[in-house]
Amino acid sequence: MTINKSLEFTTLYEISKVLGSSLNINVTLKLAIKILTDYLDMKIAVIALIEDGELIIVASHGIDPEDVKAGRYKVGEGIMGKVAKTGCSMVIPDEVEETSFFNKNMKVNSTQKVAFLYVPIVFKKEILGVLSVARTYDSMQSTFDEDMRFLKIISSLVSQSVKLCHSVESEKKLLMEECDALKMALKRKYKLNNIVGRSGSMQEVFEAVHRVAPTKATVLLIGESGTGKELIARAIHYMGTRSDCPFVKFNCAAIPEGLLETELFGHEKGAFTGATSSRKGRFELAHEGTIFLDEIGDLTMSLQPKILRVLQEREFERIGGEKTIKVDVRVIAATSRNLEALVEESKFREDLYYRLNVVPIYLPPLRERQEDIVELTEFFLNKFNNEHGRSVTIAPKSISLMMKYYWPGNVRELENTIERLVIMCPDNVVKPHDLPTNMRNFNPTTMKNEPYTKTRPVTLEQTERQRIIEVLEANNWVHAKAAQVLGITARQIGYKVKKYGIRKGVS
Ligand SMILES: Nc1ncnc2c1ncn2[C@@H]1O[C@H](COP(=O)(O)OP(=O)(O)OP(=O)(O)O)[C@@H](O)[C@H]1O
Ligand SMILES: [Mg+2]
Repeated sequence: MTINKSLEFTTLYEISKVLGSSLNINVTLKLAIKILTDYLDMKIAVIALIEDGELIIVASHGIDPEDVKAGRYKVGEGIMGKVAKTGCSMVIPDEVEETSFFNKNMKVNSTQKVAFLYVPIVFKKEILGVLSVARTYDSMQSTFDEDMRFLKIISSLVSQSVKLCHSVESEKKLLMEECDALKMALKRKYKLNNIVGRSGSMQEVFEAVHRVAPTKATVLLIGESGTGKELIARAIHYMGTRSDCPFVKFNCAAIPEGLLETELFGHEKGAFTGATSSRKGRFELAHEGTIFLDEIGDLTMSLQPKILRVLQEREFERIGGEKTIKVDVRVIAATSRNLEALVEESKFREDLYYRLNVVPIYLPPLRERQEDIVELTEFFLNKFNNEHGRSVTIAPKSISLMMKYYWPGNVRELENTIERLVIMCPDNVVKPHDLPTNMRNFNPTTMKNEPYTKTRPVTLEQTERQRIIEVLEANNWVHAKAAQVLGITARQIGYKVKKYGIRKGVS
């Protein structure tokens, strides 16, 4: 039964070719088994791989497909299982005599004697599975050494291929998981046009905006001055279904008390002296759109019940009018004051507070979301550089001072600061001394500015020294340039630098 050498080489060559042809192990192993049985006339050939402690047939020839489906063996059970466990090859020369060793679906219908050969599929000592074949043979004198040697070569080829596919697959799985995780992260990342905020607290705000925008729910925006309440109010309006209708702003704090009512509800002709024609109020103007009631905490006690009625009934009368006007408006209110405290102090009606507080959105102060400062700075730099035709950047030292600052005016203060810097900065890099004094001298531990006198030069000489340092700093310590800016000669600046003991990096 020894295999013809040239056929052996051809078989090996063909098998190695198919194993290398694809990373789909189920396909390549089936092809390999086909080549093996076609070329070498095997009655049965089976490749079973270990998966979770079980041997599973992945490619076979000569056995019932039903048996293939059912073909799962525990490692250690049956002959294949034993080979898978020990990693030792086995030969069963006579099926008839060794029946008890066979796995049930490896019977061979043959009048000739049949030998079973089992070779473990091993990669670097790791047992991956078993290659088993059944061959007929003529006499008991036959030796199986040649066959075993040949099958071991094939098993080694198979093992490399299996291992490669496994590692590619697990890498692929890892990448897929990573990809899923990234997709999830992206999904979680809420974006609003021209609104910056990667901090967790701003992401929560954005998520709430996404949820609430398509509804008609009343929203109450709570936050210190300059935190972006109006910006968010507009985003809610423009992301909703009413975006084609008006967004009407009404600042409860900015309009004189006597005018509040007529501004909000309008008036009829002749309602009061000077009412020469009838006029629509903000609620009417906002019909089918959104009314933004800014600084609602400043609403007078006398006007509060009237607003409450509109919120409840969506109806009102113009001043001096009889007709009840119905409106369809979405209400967004904003406050920088603590409404609950105002309710406690009986300065704000509790029922109105509950009417407004349907969906509260809290806008955190800038100092509580330092991670947004860098991105906001970039955003505003970009905006103002474009507007003013400049290309100003901010030195890392200046950024770190900005990160420590308290920002009582929040994003508005940052926006104004950047605009000022872009316009005023003498060169293209904002150095710490270009920053506003209160920012430079801010002490994070006391949350206060250091007394101005501490850093303010007190004598004329100190003033001169400081000015020279500033100009040198702004001109990269090139004396000639600095001298030009200061209107003195290079020799004079050299003299002063020496006199005041000015050195780069020491101020
Ligand atoms: N997250 C942000 N991204 C970009 N710009 C912002 C952001 N937050 C606020 N701004 C800008 O800061 C300025 C102040 O924002 P806004 O007027 O919305 O604040 P506010 O809370 O209504 O303040 P106030 O209570 O003083 O009226 C605006 O110019 C706005 O465009
Ligand atoms: Mg505002």
